[in-house]
Amino acid sequence: MFLLRRWLSFTVLPTVLLFLVLKSNLNAVESREPDTPEGTCTTSGVCDTIKTVLVTGSNGFVASWIVKVLLEQGYSVHAAVRNEAIPDKVNHLKQLTAETSRLKIFSTGDLGSTPDDIWDAPLKGCHAVIHASMAMGWRDGRHKMYEPTLAGTRQLLQAIERHTDSIQTLILTSSTAAVATQDGNAITDESHWRNAQEDIEQESWYSATKIAQEQMVTEWAQTQKKAGILPPQFQFVSIVPTRVLGPPIVSTLPISGWIQILRDWLLHPPAESNDTIEFVHVQDVARMHIAALEHPEAYGRYLCVDESWHWNELLEYLQQLQPKMIIKPYKGDDDKVPPKQFSKERRNTLDVAFRSMKTMLKDAVEYLEAGDELGGLSTIKF
Ligand SMILES: NC(=O)c1ccc[n+]([C@@H]2O[C@H](COP(=O)([O-])OP(=O)(O)OC[C@H]3O[C@@H](n4cnc5c(N)ncnc54)[C@H](OP(=O)(O)O)[C@@H]3O)[C@@H](O)[C@H]2O)c1
Repeated sequence: MFLLRRWLSFTVLPTVLLFLVLKSNLNAVESREPDTPEGTCTTSGVCDTIKTVLVTGSNGFVASWIVKVLLEQGYSVHAAVRNEAIPDKVNHLKQLTAETSRLKIFSTGDLGSTPDDIWDAPLKGCHAVIHASMAMGWRDGRHKMYEPTLAGTRQLLQAIERHTDSIQTLILTSSTAAVATQDGNAITDESHWRNAQEDIEQESWYSATKIAQEQMVTEWAQTQKKAGILPPQFQFVSIVPTRVLGPPIVSTLPISGWIQILRDWLLHPPAESNDTIEFVHVQDVARMHIAALEHPEAYGRYLCVDESWHWNELLEYLQQLQPKMIIKPYKGDDDKVPPKQFSKERRNTLDVAFRSMKTMLKDAVEYLEAGDELGGLSTIKF
């Protein structure tokens, strides 16, 4: 009996204990999220394949919304800004998550003016890149917008080639400034490119930059795949928004971009125009970027535009929202030009519902009123 007890305690019990310990470890491994370079994906099943995303120009109007949605959906973000030491450029990003391990901020300087290896640290461990920054030098477009944006983008592409072990997707934030919108009732789709050379000759540097940048990245993705430098499954997607409207995440004034222009229109009646206008909501643009990341078949251009309105329609609706606004509708001899038609075929494959012009404008006006940006326009007595 004594020998039997000794045998049990020295052989069977340790074996059982060892089995239990191993099993509990195995369960822990099975229930853990797949290994990630940092952080875990908490909500979205897609994080099994894409977990850490580098976003360039992260502090900007559009990109800060992209960062917000990525964080909300469980991704980790490497947020590239020009200089993280400037609090106004990063504080609104830091407030987006309490999980500091899921947001790392990198200083990447001015596009095209940095050492070639500037992107290596922010790219390390990333599964995807969203390239939303561009040089915004409006005064000397050739030297402060066109050339640095192309040089900086080229540097980023070369850096991605050094990280193809992890990076599977590149998404570029382009613009309908790179699209030749069709007149009349003809439908504009992703095959319609503006001519960069014509814009260079006319010194339209914003559109020249967006066309040249998007074409450069498209050609790079094709040739480097053919050359075997990028893996066959590498995805390149270009999100092509029209004018982006919506609340900025950074709440400090002054406001800028299209919401500022809208404020100016409300306060100072714009000239009449026989033209059309389109807006897209900033959150829908952000969601299009993330939908593209999550869609295994996504490739190429996706127009990001819903409705087009005649200028008169815009003014009349703004006046409904702000009855004291003075409007100058077009009443010329020519027929009113029809709203532009944009193909929604490709866009709809990403399943993002777009806010209507009415919703966007109403929200924008409410935002301006809440920030006291309209100087009490609705209460002014004329
Ligand atoms: N807003 C729209 O209506 C609209 C419409 C269609 C497409 N897009 C595209 O969306 C993207 C973001 O635009 P956004 O409206 O969000 O503009 P934004 O708020 O001005 O953001 C631009 C970002 O680029 C950075 N940047 C500016 N100059 C730079 C330089 N020389 N080198 C490196 N980074 C620089 C900015 O950094 P700092 O803050 O430090 O200057 C900022 O992070 C752009 O690619 C734009 O073409 C915008």
